[in-house]
Amino acid sequence: MGYRGHFRVWRGDSSGGGLEDFTVEVNEGEVVLDVIHRLQATQAADLAVRWNCKAGKCGSCSAEVNGRPRLLCMTRMSVFAEDETVTVTPMRTFPVIRDLVTDVSYNYTKAREIPAFQPPEGVPPGEYRMSQVDVERSQEFRKCIECFLCQNTCHVIRDHEENKEAFAGPRFLMRVAELEMHPLDEGDRVGAAQSAHGLGLCNITKCCTEVCPEHIKITDNALIPMKERVADRRYDPIVWLGNKLFRR
Ligand code: SF4
Ligand code: F3S
Ligand code: FES
Repeated sequence: MGYRGHFRVWRGDSSGGGLEDFTVEVNEGEVVLDVIHRLQATQAADLAVRWNCKAGKCGSCSAEVNGRPRLLCMTRMSVFAEDETVTVTPMRTFPVIRDLVTDVSYNYTKAREIPAFQPPEGVPPGEYRMSQVDVERSQEFRKCIECFLCQNTCHVIRDHEENKEAFAGPRFLMRVAELEMHPLDEGDRVGAAQSAHGLGLCNITKCCTEVCPEHIKITDNALIPMKERVADRRYDPIVWLGNKLFRR
C-alpha cells in the first residue's frame, strides 16, 4: 500500500541553499531514488540528482539520508517509518554543484597522484604469473564502485578541508595497498603511502569501512596492513633494505 511520505531535500548551489519540505507518494518496494525521481516528475522538475544504474553498481547516486552517507538507489524506503521525515542532502565533504550533485573531482586528482602498476622489467604482458591468494586479495579491493562514500565519511577531510591536499583518503590509500600487495609491482608504495598520500593522518576510526556499499574491509585489509609495513620499515630499515635488494 502506498502512502504520502514526508521529505526534506537540500536545494541550492555553490552560492548557498537550504532544506525544502515535500510530501511525495511512496509505494511498496521503492528506494529513496524512486521517490526523488517522482519528486522531479511531479513537483521539482529542475531538482539535480546524479544516478545511472539504479542497481548499486555505478557509484553515482551517493548522498546523505538522515545524515548517513548512502547510495540513494540502495536505500529502501521500508527502513523508515511512514510518518518519519526523510532528509536527503548532498555529500558534505565535496563542494555542491547543484542540489544533490557534488563536485567529486578531488577524488580524480587523488587517483592521478598514484603512479600506475609498475611491472617487472623484461616480463612481457601475457607472461605475468601470480598465485591465486594474491589474485583474491586484489579482487576484494577491485570491487570498489568509486561511490566515494568512504571519502565523504572520513573525518580527516570531512571536518578538515585543509587536509585534502595531503590526504588521499581511504579509497586511494586502498589502491596504494592493492599495488603494494601485488607480487609483481615494483613501485615503492610504502614510502609513498606515508609521504605522498597521507597514510599517517588515518587514525583507524573505521568509519570508511562502515559505509562501504561493497562491504570492502578497507581498514582491516588495506589501511592497517599498510601501516604495519610503514612501521616495519621505520623500526627496521636494514631488514627493509635487505628485502628490497634480495627478495626479488
Ligand atoms: Fe565506495 Fe567502498 Fe569504493 Fe569507498 S571503497 S569508493 S565506499 S565502494
Ligand atoms: Fe578515515 Fe577510514 Fe582511516 S575513516 S581515519 S581512512 S580508518
Ligand atoms: Fe548506480 Fe545508485 S544509481 S549506484
